[in-house]
Amino acid sequence: MSQNDPCQLILALDLETREAALAMLDHLGDSLKWVKVGLQLFTAYGPDFVREVADRGYKVFLDLKLHDIPNTVAKAVQSIATLPVELLTLHASGGGEMLQWANQARAEHAPHLNLLAVTVLTSMDEAQLRSLNVHSTAEDQVLHLADITLQAGIQGLVCSSLELTPLRQRFGNSPIIVTPGIRPAGAASDEQKRIMTPRAAAAAGSSYIVVGRPILNAADPAAAARAIQAELRAE
Ligand code: C5P
Repeated sequence: MSQNDPCQLILALDLETREAALAMLDHLGDSLKWVKVGLQLFTAYGPDFVREVADRGYKVFLDLKLHDIPNTVAKAVQSIATLPVELLTLHASGGGEMLQWANQARAEHAPHLNLLAVTVLTSMDEAQLRSLNVHSTAEDQVLHLADITLQAGIQGLVCSSLELTPLRQRFGNSPIIVTPGIRPAGAASDEQKRIMTPRAAAAAGSSYIVVGRPILNAADPAAAARAIQAELRAE
């Protein structure tokens, strides 16, 4: 996956129960290929739920945002290697050593898996960064964490779509870049503030866009997913 491949849609499966999530997947059918399983469903239903999603033919992005000492994160990556997962997140702010250990575990146990480091959460503004004693801008901090991530050999990044252009300028086409905070034109922004349309994010170099509520809350979620795919193809 690089910027030269078409940008793909990942559904954020942010629903409360296994039953609701599986009913949504049954409705969505082949209107999309990728599903993001996050902390809510993974904490409630665990690895079996990941297998159920994969058994329905979807590729799984497991968004666990791992952040711990290097050995613990490496062992978690080793455990996840037994699951049908293609993308897994960890926090870049865990530091270079944690990222290297995680990548080493990936290479040994799950060479098919791509790791993605979350840079600055889109919920963080500069006042919050300052409260953590980070005095650079959010964009500079994203670029700094991206440097550490890519030097550690990690395959990709999660960031806001607003950082796509400076990241592609500095690091080129090869890192995978995944962007949430996407809203089709005219859709409710919900609480997301730094948003882009699917087409604009694809044009700015996103490898995968993550979309939740604009699909989950649509009157016809499969039609909403297909409309976003069509917008990505038109880019
Ligand atoms: O419903 P919506 O499209 O806003 O969902 C976006 C998804 O992306 C959610 O699962 C959210 O947790 C995730 N996400 C985000 N911002 C980040 C990282 C992940 O919105 N920085």
